[in-house]
Amino acid sequence: MDLATLYPDHLATVLQRMYAALERSGNDHLLIASGVLKYQFLDDRPYPFAINPHFLQCVPLVEHTDGWIVVTPGKKPVLVYHQPADYWHLPPTEPQGFWTEHFDIRVIRSPQEAAQHLPKSGRMAILGEADAALEGFVPNNPKAVLDELHYQRAYKTDYELACLRMASRRAARGHVAARIAFEAGASEYEINRAYLGAAGHNDVDVPYGNIVALNEHAAVLHYQHQEHAAPPQSRSFLIDAGARFNGYSSDITRTYCRDDARFQALIDGVETVQLALVDQVRAGNDYRAIHLDAHLRLATVLRDRNVVRMSPEAQVETGVSSVFFPHGVGHLLGLQVHDVAGFAGSIHGDLIPKPDGHPFLRLTRPLDAGMVVTIEPGLYFIPMLLQGLQEGPHAGDIDWAEVEHLSRFGGIRIEDDVACRTQGAPENLTRDAFAAI
Ligand code: GLY
Ligand code: MN
Ligand code: MN
Repeated sequence: MDLATLYPDHLATVLQRMYAALERSGNDHLLIASGVLKYQFLDDRPYPFAINPHFLQCVPLVEHTDGWIVVTPGKKPVLVYHQPADYWHLPPTEPQGFWTEHFDIRVIRSPQEAAQHLPKSGRMAILGEADAALEGFVPNNPKAVLDELHYQRAYKTDYELACLRMASRRAARGHVAARIAFEAGASEYEINRAYLGAAGHNDVDVPYGNIVALNEHAAVLHYQHQEHAAPPQSRSFLIDAGARFNGYSSDITRTYCRDDARFQALIDGVETVQLALVDQVRAGNDYRAIHLDAHLRLATVLRDRNVVRMSPEAQVETGVSSVFFPHGVGHLLGLQVHDVAGFAGSIHGDLIPKPDGHPFLRLTRPLDAGMVVTIEPGLYFIPMLLQGLQEGPHAGDIDWAEVEHLSRFGGIRIEDDVACRTQGAPENLTRDAFAAI
């Protein structure tokens, strides 16, 4: 089904959630400010604009500054649409698209004019950043309202699933171009250009800074740099890069190597683990259990590949597995790459704790139909963490010659975006996208 067909049900679901949150919190109106441009210190250059995701969930206007949405139960929602007369910049077009008929649209020419279209009375929950305040309308971001809306946002509508599929498609095209560039010996910078070109994105459109890492750089989890020159020898390549569609994100990682059977075997081992974990994205499963199972399985790979001479259980028990896998197995995905409410136990703001010893896990909720998560196990050779291992009680259980050999390839991560279904096997948005292009 196309987006225009799916959108009315999506908006109805989002509005129902908002009505419920208003009633529970004792408010009459929900106001959502899209946000304002922010300027660099002592300069007239703005930072890239990041829109209020609550606004974006209602209308696919990723770049829309100074807009407002007013939600009042029993009334058509109002969209205050900022369309300045501006010959310095390209102003927003006339409101157009499948969503327009669902809003009472009021076009304004200056940000201050919005106040005329906002409610004159009643109790208001106002969601937005402080800088978006207008006279009489200061964002108060009530915790109870945010807790409820954030909790619900984990459950994607069919429209949102369709957008997330498209975001995976876009990124998959970029990933294919990036792999080809790696195989041709390109630099990190050149690979990134190839990725962006094929994904149809600018640097500022991507949902997070692309991680484009050759050789040892693959050991830097959020490697933010890009070398302009190609290294003398491109041994391995880790790329963590996503795309956006109507504001929804994909988050995909692939790892490749050239001419090394031992590192390739490790990649194959991580891929087998990753697919087994993806299969566990099923309604009722506890995501924390998937994370802990990832440790056991990755530790098994380390033992089978003769990197660590300890049982998988002992590796997990002593924290040795965390030296090689020092991040969470994944997170919720949606309007934000690390989407909100990963720890929420209910709409009421209670939290589900992380397992002891796993401080970087971003998702502890039981899985349910409609949730979209990433599954991203990895194995890395991170000098700082290896040094601690070398100085600790388990140094004798490590094959340091093998670690030294594998360290030249940095690390491995394989990451797919996965939707949990009501029953049966999950939908792998990422693998479907690669298969379709
Ligand atoms: N790209 C960041 C992450 O995978 O969570
Ligand atoms: Mn991720
Ligand atoms: Mn990622």
